[in-house]
Amino acid sequence: MQPLEYGVATASYQVEGAVDEDGRGRSIWDTLCDRPGAILDGSSGAVACDQYHRLDEDLDLVRDLGVSTYRFSVAWPRVQPSGSGPANEPGLDYYDRLVDGLLARGLRPLPTLYHWDLPQPLEDVGGWPVRETSERFADYAALVHGRLGDRVADWTTLNEPWCSAFLGYAAGIHAPGRREPDAAYAAAHHLLLGHALAAEAVGGSGIVLNLTTVYADDADAAEAARFVDAVHNGIWLDPLLDGRYPQVLVDAGPPLADGELVRDSDLARIRGSAAWVGVNFYTPSRVTSAAPAGRAVGQDAGAYPHAPPHGYAPRDPRTAMGWEVLPESLEELLVGLSRRAPDLPLRVTENGAAYDDDRRAADGSVDDPDRIAYFEAHLAAVDRARAAGADVRTYVAWTLLDNFEWAEGYTKKFGLVEVEPGTLRRIPKASYRWFAEHVCG
Ligand code: FCB
Repeated sequence: MQPLEYGVATASYQVEGAVDEDGRGRSIWDTLCDRPGAILDGSSGAVACDQYHRLDEDLDLVRDLGVSTYRFSVAWPRVQPSGSGPANEPGLDYYDRLVDGLLARGLRPLPTLYHWDLPQPLEDVGGWPVRETSERFADYAALVHGRLGDRVADWTTLNEPWCSAFLGYAAGIHAPGRREPDAAYAAAHHLLLGHALAAEAVGGSGIVLNLTTVYADDADAAEAARFVDAVHNGIWLDPLLDGRYPQVLVDAGPPLADGELVRDSDLARIRGSAAWVGVNFYTPSRVTSAAPAGRAVGQDAGAYPHAPPHGYAPRDPRTAMGWEVLPESLEELLVGLSRRAPDLPLRVTENGAAYDDDRRAADGSVDDPDRIAYFEAHLAAVDRARAAGADVRTYVAWTLLDNFEWAEGYTKKFGLVEVEPGTLRRIPKASYRWFAEHVCG
């Protein structure tokens, strides 16, 4: 068995800041952050971790962690401010420096082309529910590949299209903040089509999915759980592996039953278009037949349009996100996927936990045993999955730095490194030292 490779991840809007610099255009997240009440603490990624200006310091932190891979994302509105047309060269220059900085440190770049920052002008003409957005995405992918392709061999098209489609266009808690159930299914299809077209443009690519195990918490929830499983997992995996959408979603119609939206030629293109699958895993989903009670982050009512009425019942222990900790689910997912698609290489492209980080060591740095325990238990789950035959090549921790956690603003901290509010000083946590010594050491 090949040794597991380790990495650490970030995403452009969560860390870069510098939103008005060097010709960057606006993205749907800039717009959502301006909407009162959209972000828990009223913040935005306008400054974030200021990685745009602190690149060398951050790349040193990646190197000193001892991982081999840095997973980052390219901000589409830096490369194409209006979402189409020629490249904005200063935007590409930034990613050029990033890639060169990684290579100079002996690190492997693993860029994601889309981690949710759609250029606002493309949303203004309809966004992902519109077919042309897939074509624009492939054009953009070709521009990035044209600049970085001589040094980057390994590409990721999309990060967690479920969030883009269903949190963005159905639940409305992510950008662009629309609540249009049918549009969410159209977005899902165009994201997959965009993935396939972009993968062709870069000569082969992986895709990153936030797969989850779905459990029916009571007998009456079985039907809802099947539907949730289809919207969360099957809607991506079935077309990618088998060239069709889950029947339960087609039957729920009208969106995926519409032959104008879902063309046979699209499905043929999507099938087999992922060179590998990245699994982002945080928590299982426990579906109940009870009405939704309260707000479980990331599982809001409305995120599974046309599903039978249901709620969520995460069990303890839970992280600061309210997400149940269940490492066995990661093992189950990886083993299940590898049995279904034995020739498909897998990666864990995100895994990590938010905690309050209120314990301090004598030197003032964060002492975060809960986060260490989370990583330890999930790394053990990956080991078990590999021992059971799953072809998992990489494990990428989320995340290098405390950063802008989308609708949660800066209230949730996932970093191995604390970013001191105000000064933005980077202070490694106990989990960073543990990861360096016990995982990479
Ligand atoms: C994932 C996202 C990532 C981060 C983690 C906590 O859904 O891909 O950007 O926010 O959750």
